[in-house]
Amino acid sequence: KMNKFISDLMQKMTLEEKIGQLNMITVGFDVTGPVVSKDVDANIRKGNVGSVLNTFTPKAARKLQEMAVKESRLHIPLIFGYDVIHGHRTIFPIALGLASSWDLQAIERSARIAAEEASADGINWVYSPMVDIARDPRWGRISEGSGEDPYLGSQIARVMVRGYQGSDLTKNNTVMACVKHFALYGAAEAGRDYNTTDMSLVRMYNEYLPPYKAAVEAGAGSMMSSFNDINGIPATGNKWLMTELLRNHWGFDGFVATDYTAINEMSAHGMGNDAQVSALALNAGIDQDMVGEIFLKNLAQNLKDGTVKQEQIDLACRRILEAKYKLGLFQDPYLYTNEKRAKATMMKKEYVADARDIARKSMVLLKNSNNTLPLKKVGTIALVGPLATRQRDMIGSWSGAGDWKQAVSLEQGIRNVAGNSVKIVTAQGANFTDDQQMIDRLNAHGGELNVDKRSAETLIQEAVQAAQGADVIVAAVGESQGMTGEAASRADIGLPGQQLELLKALKKTGKPLVIVLMSGRPLTLPWEDQNADAMLETWFAGSQAGNAIADVLFGAYNPSGKLTATFPQSVGQIPLYYNHKNTGRPYGGVSLDKYKSRYLDVTNDPLYPFGYGLSYTTFQYDKPELSTNTLAMNGTLEVKVNVKNTGNYDGEEVAQLYIRDMVGSISRPVKELKGFQKVMLKKGESRTLTFRLTPDDLKFYNNDLKLVAEPGDFQVFVGGNSRDVQMASFKLQ
Ligand code: IFM
Repeated sequence: KMNKFISDLMQKMTLEEKIGQLNMITVGFDVTGPVVSKDVDANIRKGNVGSVLNTFTPKAARKLQEMAVKESRLHIPLIFGYDVIHGHRTIFPIALGLASSWDLQAIERSARIAAEEASADGINWVYSPMVDIARDPRWGRISEGSGEDPYLGSQIARVMVRGYQGSDLTKNNTVMACVKHFALYGAAEAGRDYNTTDMSLVRMYNEYLPPYKAAVEAGAGSMMSSFNDINGIPATGNKWLMTELLRNHWGFDGFVATDYTAINEMSAHGMGNDAQVSALALNAGIDQDMVGEIFLKNLAQNLKDGTVKQEQIDLACRRILEAKYKLGLFQDPYLYTNEKRAKATMMKKEYVADARDIARKSMVLLKNSNNTLPLKKVGTIALVGPLATRQRDMIGSWSGAGDWKQAVSLEQGIRNVAGNSVKIVTAQGANFTDDQQMIDRLNAHGGELNVDKRSAETLIQEAVQAAQGADVIVAAVGESQGMTGEAASRADIGLPGQQLELLKALKKTGKPLVIVLMSGRPLTLPWEDQNADAMLETWFAGSQAGNAIADVLFGAYNPSGKLTATFPQSVGQIPLYYNHKNTGRPYGGVSLDKYKSRYLDVTNDPLYPFGYGLSYTTFQYDKPELSTNTLAMNGTLEVKVNVKNTGNYDGEEVAQLYIRDMVGSISRPVKELKGFQKVMLKKGESRTLTFRLTPDDLKFYNNDLKLVAEPGDFQVFVGGNSRDVQMASFKLQ
């Protein structure tokens, strides 16, 4: 039915109208690149526009939709795309935080709520999930993805697609997902945004591509090309990537949009002039030009010159029209523009409650000596640091239509949760940064940094004074929201500005020091790890940040999050990730061993490994028991492990299962995550968890890019993080 409808429609379309469908315009806010579309109305009326970026609210979307449907010759409706990344109006933790919950249901719920709100707000296409594997925390966009692991990343990709798209895209409360950034955007050299990637195919297939593939298998309707060049060819002009791999091998049948002006940018990559990059992109398999107007201005001439074929234009046009059909827009172009529904949907009480709960689940307790946490609701708290009272940063970067003025600050959250029984004294203590250039750059993009111009010493002194009169210090330190996200790479990932000096001065007061850390990336925190009494990574936790953090601080919620990106000790160790190879000279921890794969000045260990996170209680793992020591090629291996809550609180634990393939036709990682279970155990409770492994779980892409499970020895590990595990062995035969 769809094919016939579209074929009939395309019969009526002129070449210009077909090219128009491939063109996306923006109306001028949330601009992340150079072009702001001109003559928007006239172009829509002429049929020169297929989709619109950055227009939402039912009223604004309806206005443009009416223009297209009532005033363009063929009445073809527009798609409305927007960056709904971790919530739309109700903002959830940044994606790296969501991933740290290891709670797939909660993550899916966040996407579902985002879809409910976005679809009621005129939007039908969202630029999420962002599934780029990232092993370099210098890269600012590590905050937008699920971290470093392909297995976990794939699971999250699947549930997010499901959360957005539901089972029926034509419904008015579902939106089309756009998986990004295809591909390898997270592997930008040196963590510098938009930078080159160069990678072996084996690494790509095994380590970087799985989450994109998982999203495709989950039925994602669209993909976004990445800005980076891959082994010499920019992703946006990469036919191998966009056509051979994505469509021919993976069977993707949705449409591919570029990132913002990515076709134009291929000129700077050195791929030729506008006409050349236009043809390159279309021939590679790109269907939609985001904002660059390269297709609009060049494709007709490309066709005349013979550098593109009519069939390729038709194919791209068909894919865009198919997306519109799948979204139900031909039946009802105003499906997403009902003002009454919008009013009833945004930031519903239950959504806000879910945001608080999901935010609590995302937080990772990094340290807690002498049970400093949870805090008691008595005495005086010195609440200091640049994030102590801020609302602006709580919702994090890429929070699109989220209103930070509705976000709960940490101070407010503590007041809400602890009530009047606790006295709070606040002091900023330090600016995020005193580097004027950085301040100007951040403020130019909505940072609203509120720099206190007094000297660093004065600010620190004020905080120290507050601390001296208090029973406990809660230091809210970290990054401002604009210090992570797009174009926010950092070469030094310690606490910015004078914040470490602030902490050192606070430490000297001898009062218990609790660090509430907000960041969009792993940071290097060796001093903080040594000296804080407790440290809680809260990411940027969203609309309900302050309440959720306070719930954790005062024990209304026992933290259960686990890191999904390794925290290095030092920037020089980057890239540092748990699923690395062994090398021929692995360092075994003997310090005089010179000719080993190690540094002279720092160990190979992370500060906090992948999968790490504490609880107010403790969990003890027994040795895993295997149902068999030899797994047959058509068999299943059961791994049973007993986990006991040995502490004083009820709590949730993420039990993780890793494998190691001991001998392979290519060298294999020292550990690979292959399963996890998040379980609630009451104080004193033991439970036997069962994981099942089949040869499919042991498969990898070999040197011929064949997916194989190779017979031989394996180890299996179970534990509460990737470092502290119990091991057993088996053979695949
Ligand atoms: O979705 C984003 C992308 O992640 C970065 N460039 C702009 C796009 C649309 O705003």
